[in-house]
Amino acid sequence: MPYKIESQNINNQSKRQPIILVRGLQKTYYSDDVETPALQGVSFAAEKGDFISIMGPSGSGKSTLLHLLGFLDKPTGGEYIFEGKKIESYSDDELAHFRNKKLGFVFQAFNLLSKMTVLENVKMPLAYSDVPESKWDELATKAIEKVGLSHRINHEASKLSGGEKQRVAIARALVNEPSVIFADEPTGNLDSKSGTLVMDYIEKLHEEGTTIILITHETYTAQYGHSIIHLKDGLIENVEKVEEKHKKHDGFLK
Ligand SMILES: Nc1ncnc2c1ncn2[C@@H]1O[C@H](COP(=O)(O)OP(=O)(O)O)[C@@H](O)[C@H]1O
Ligand SMILES: [Mg+2]
Repeated sequence: MPYKIESQNINNQSKRQPIILVRGLQKTYYSDDVETPALQGVSFAAEKGDFISIMGPSGSGKSTLLHLLGFLDKPTGGEYIFEGKKIESYSDDELAHFRNKKLGFVFQAFNLLSKMTVLENVKMPLAYSDVPESKWDELATKAIEKVGLSHRINHEASKLSGGEKQRVAIARALVNEPSVIFADEPTGNLDSKSGTLVMDYIEKLHEEGTTIILITHETYTAQYGHSIIHLKDGLIENVEKVEEKHKKHDGFLK
């Protein structure tokens, strides 16, 4: 018997399953008789621990792709397999549960509750998790420490600088220890110095094992990834591998 178990384990390891797998993914928006084919058949895979950047001109479908991958919207065609199961086989409740427990989001506009404190903002996702309320303060405090904002913990979010707001958003994204963090233009509203700091925190999370999917239109920022998916008109134009030597930068190119 033990032999059988052992060989099964080896077998599982050799078949590394992607955490995210999309095949021919499509999304068409319908509004007032206008059809917008935002994604026209996108296929790629992300394995656990990958750092994938997505680049492309405005309107090429980047945010649409991120919304589909983050279960914020549903595709109109193609397949999305998350952790080995087609998303159609998950109920809406299960998808919401995944979104709250396994995924973290960082957006260009920070999306913080401006009248709330840093601590209150970072605690938000825990309210939708299985974590008992008695643990919320401790976990949120740790996440805030991780982005170097302990000294701002009781500040109102609206009083922070842009870079600090985005670091709060990162703390909020990581408080549930998600397996994937989706970031949509996280440095888009920041000056180069705060942008670099924000990217360095995202890179740190990646080093700790979090899978990162990052949208950016900045070449410099995209090079934090292992590979860069170039989108154009809702299709993948090409996938660029980032060489290790390119990962050391000395300038932030906007
Ligand atoms: N909710 C929506 N309803 C209708 N059209 C949309 C919606 N969201 C995006 N689009 C359209 O889909 C296309 C892709 O948009 P988007 O994914 O936001 O591109 P990107 O993030 O690359 O700028 C654009 O033509 C955009 O106008
Ligand atoms: Mg966008």
